[in-house]
Amino acid sequence: MTTTAAPAVSLADRAAYERAVDTALAAATAYYGDGETTLDDVSYDELTRQIAAYERQHPEHVRADSPTGKVGGGAAPVGDVAHTVPMLSLDNVFNAEELAKWAASLTRRIGGPVTGGYVREPKFDGMAVAARYRTGRLVQLVGRGDGLHGEDLSHAIGTIVGLPERLAVDATVEIRGEVLLTRDQFQKANEIRLAHKAKPFSNARNGTAGTLRAKDRPYVIETTFFAYGAVGLDGVDFLRGDTHEAVMAQVHALGVQTSAISDAGLRVYATVEEVQAGIEEIQRLRADLPFGIDGVVVKANDFVVQNAAGFGTRHPHWATAYKLPPMQRQTRLIGVEWNVGKTAIIAPRAVLEPVELDGSRVRYATLNNPRFIRDLDVKIGDTVVVSKAGDVIPRIESVVVDKRTGEETPVVFPEACPQCGGEVNTSGERWECAEGVNGSCGLLPALKYAVGRDQLDIEGLGGTYLEALVASGAVRDVADLFTLTHQQLAEATKSTRRADALMQQIEAAKQKPLNRIFCALGIKCTGRTLSKEIAAHFKTMDAIRAADVEALAAVNKLAPANAPKVAAHLAALGPVIDKLAEAGVNMTEPEEPAKATGPGPLTGAFVVVTGGMTGALAGRNRNEMNDLIKAAGGEPSGSVSKKTTYLVAGENAGSKLAKAQQLGTKVLTEEEFAAMVADYLS
Ligand code: IVH
Repeated sequence: MTTTAAPAVSLADRAAYERAVDTALAAATAYYGDGETTLDDVSYDELTRQIAAYERQHPEHVRADSPTGKVGGGAAPVGDVAHTVPMLSLDNVFNAEELAKWAASLTRRIGGPVTGGYVREPKFDGMAVAARYRTGRLVQLVGRGDGLHGEDLSHAIGTIVGLPERLAVDATVEIRGEVLLTRDQFQKANEIRLAHKAKPFSNARNGTAGTLRAKDRPYVIETTFFAYGAVGLDGVDFLRGDTHEAVMAQVHALGVQTSAISDAGLRVYATVEEVQAGIEEIQRLRADLPFGIDGVVVKANDFVVQNAAGFGTRHPHWATAYKLPPMQRQTRLIGVEWNVGKTAIIAPRAVLEPVELDGSRVRYATLNNPRFIRDLDVKIGDTVVVSKAGDVIPRIESVVVDKRTGEETPVVFPEACPQCGGEVNTSGERWECAEGVNGSCGLLPALKYAVGRDQLDIEGLGGTYLEALVASGAVRDVADLFTLTHQQLAEATKSTRRADALMQQIEAAKQKPLNRIFCALGIKCTGRTLSKEIAAHFKTMDAIRAADVEALAAVNKLAPANAPKVAAHLAALGPVIDKLAEAGVNMTEPEEPAKATGPGPLTGAFVVVTGGMTGALAGRNRNEMNDLIKAAGGEPSGSVSKKTTYLVAGENAGSKLAKAQQLGTKVLTEEEFAAMVADYLS
């Protein structure tokens, strides 16, 4: 499992310590001020660990304002409402080993085994709030503050989903939990803010903090509450039950939202090993949860254990937060590259100072199009917030304007096509080479795309050979690939052996189903999925070409607004398609593989295949494997993520196998997989 590394460096001297404390304080103040962080979570955690390590060695240097040992780093806004019971924070662990150590120290502390098991709950990434109910009515909301006193946030009553103004019974009780913006609420909040000419929130947590504090806004932003605890109020002892689980069930019964509604919700486990598996389950679900989490909280379930373990100054000994690697981090934008794509589109790509994110090292992020860059108002040298979830291409969420030094420079937009030097067509949202796909520019990317695994699958015809074929004039469009002579291939690849193999590959490519041939054309607004839909819908290339805009718009998954673009591009490629047909390339779609009726052995499973297939599955290429997965009810995918249910590992499996092992994904041998789908192996 991926873990966030403990700090690699320690603070060298007192001056370094002083600087570290200043940086941490500035970050905590900014965080609790306008909610805009100047350090991401991982960097802040690392810094405070370094500070704490230095303070252990040099107790005489400890600054009174040091963030260690204080709730919220000592910077949370402290209001004037006294907490009935201190609202503490949680200590962190970062991997299985540290979790096991925490459990061992808990056992030592209570002088015996942990009875009643451990609770696992998501660590909601929002703002801690205590909700006071008196005789069933919600009368006051209080922020965490310094743990002893918090701000009065009662003005937000009525705007928080999951926190009813009346309980199911007339109870007097204080319910504690986290207020957050779900992903949908975050999006809606930013739409509302834009409509009111307010700056959009840079992330959900900052948005929550800003929203809860704001008093006189001309608009209302809805947030969500999840309870994770409850305490008595006014001396009334309403809560029953001997365990955290029982109290949370009681809170749920009162009508307050708890994590029970989520797949990642409260579960009780007998051992730490089981808890670890429960944490990994949450990690797999994380990208698809409707709200953000930054870890998993583990608590002793039994109040007898909790009471015996007690509290430290800042956190309870009976609970800990298992931090998950962040989905968002800050890094610097060091450049913007402009690359010409398969349809002659000139697409910008952000070059970043590399940063570890969601288990991989991120160097590039998408910038979509020039308008996106302008709207983001990003400059080279800016600190930016980058996010990545699962297989999604990393994206830049926002710019940390507070970190600007004045040294930043504007992003330079291309005045000429970066590939051919020709004019740029800037009339659309995406810029493209004015020569378009029919000109020389875009030809090479288009050819590279066409020979790719999901299209013609011509193995061994790499960029260098394609360049040579284009330079010699042997290939002027995709169709020319099918009329190449052995001699032309031998010259381009400088090998008769390679030419032999390529001649075979090209011959085989002629027989690919229509969806692959269509996909190889690189028609605007279409990719592999839509090519499949279009081919399945029309069955023959002639029928596709005969379709008007209206007929195209009827294709499943094709956005009607894109139908005219598809039609125009198809018409422009008419001569190329004619050449393909003349070269003997297949122009029809075979019948669909039998669809599973009712649930199959892979229903609900996300399956990735890697390595070469031998044995019962010998000779099946990726697409055939994918069809098999679909027939058995599963969902094929190209890369391993936390969502992946099975990785089928064939011969010479490489990085995907390593990633699956790292994530704890179930790995199946070819034989095991073949046995699972035996009924579908016709
Ligand atoms: S229990 C005395 N459970 O994380 C223990 N806290 O970093 C109190 N949080 O201040 C906390 N999800 O705001 C608990 N399931 C959960 C939580 C949770 C999020 C927050 C809470 C706390 C902070 C500590």
